[in-house]
Amino acid sequence: MDTFTLTNQQGLSAKITNYGGIVMALYVPDRSGQLDDIVLGFETPEEYLHPHPYFGALIGRFGNRIAKGKFTLHGIEYTLVQNNGVNSLHGGLKGFDKVIWDAKPTDTPDGPALELTYLSPDGEEGYPGNLLVKVIYTLTQQNELKIDYTATTDADTVINLTHHSYFNLAGAGNGDILDHELTLNAARFTPIDETLIPMGELRPVAGTPFDFSRPTKIGLRIDEPDEQLKYGLGYDHNWVLNNSADPLTLAARVSEPSSGRIMEVWTTEPGIQFYSGNFLDGSNIGKGDKVYQHRYGFCLETQHFPDSPNQPNFPSTVLKASQTYHSTTIYKFLT
Ligand code: GLA
Repeated sequence: MDTFTLTNQQGLSAKITNYGGIVMALYVPDRSGQLDDIVLGFETPEEYLHPHPYFGALIGRFGNRIAKGKFTLHGIEYTLVQNNGVNSLHGGLKGFDKVIWDAKPTDTPDGPALELTYLSPDGEEGYPGNLLVKVIYTLTQQNELKIDYTATTDADTVINLTHHSYFNLAGAGNGDILDHELTLNAARFTPIDETLIPMGELRPVAGTPFDFSRPTKIGLRIDEPDEQLKYGLGYDHNWVLNNSADPLTLAARVSEPSSGRIMEVWTTEPGIQFYSGNFLDGSNIGKGDKVYQHRYGFCLETQHFPDSPNQPNFPSTVLKASQTYHSTTIYKFLT
């Protein structure tokens, strides 16, 4: 396992390991220029071998859930490991978060970058096709962590790649994220059943605790007696991003009042999973011996909608042997 540190001209830095493509640390300035590490995680790559909830990791082949660990493609049924109750989550038992990637640091006109490649063999975790994946992390001179995903396959398959950093803009381990103000550029979300699988409906957020179309504190409505919040134990849902003419859309904006830090999320993906760290329970002790308690971090996972292989009305996640998969997500930092 190796680690690489990217530093841009403004002094932002990202520490990344080739184990799972995990972003182990991300230092960004607050309103007075003070740098703080704003992602949950551990000090050494080896610590990520112990159980943890996908801190900072690349997720594949399929981010989010596939119902009952089964899908059918061209009439053939594929069976995946049910590693999340009855469902398959985040690529299975040994997803892209737990493999060693080939890593190559490079300097690009945008800023320092790390190029990660991984060849997932045909049948790995039950998915068809030899899938060649390339992920480029760039720490741009505009204070962005940019993630470019590319993949090709030699047989038709399904794919949904994402990134699973837990952010706390007040600094990792410094309290919960309930005072962060979130805006999501989404008028609808995909309501889920009790196993967190979408029911197929694109439901308007208006008048519900899922309406983040204006800046709203994450904690304001999180404990309301709402069936959807009950199923997710808080927020753990996919929002349907509003269409824009530009393929790279502003999906989310988060601001943290005490530090003045702001994060924007831009993506070419149609959806975003907002997860409010509901399963964090103090069992992970992170950098600087800080204990990650309930809702100490949040994730904004850009993606295609959960369970797409089984949902004919959702945008397709099929990658054909003749095609190249490409998606881009940018986490941009401002004050
Ligand atoms: C995803 C899921 C959550 C949870 C976390 C990891 O974000 O949607 O339900 O499983 O990963 O704990």
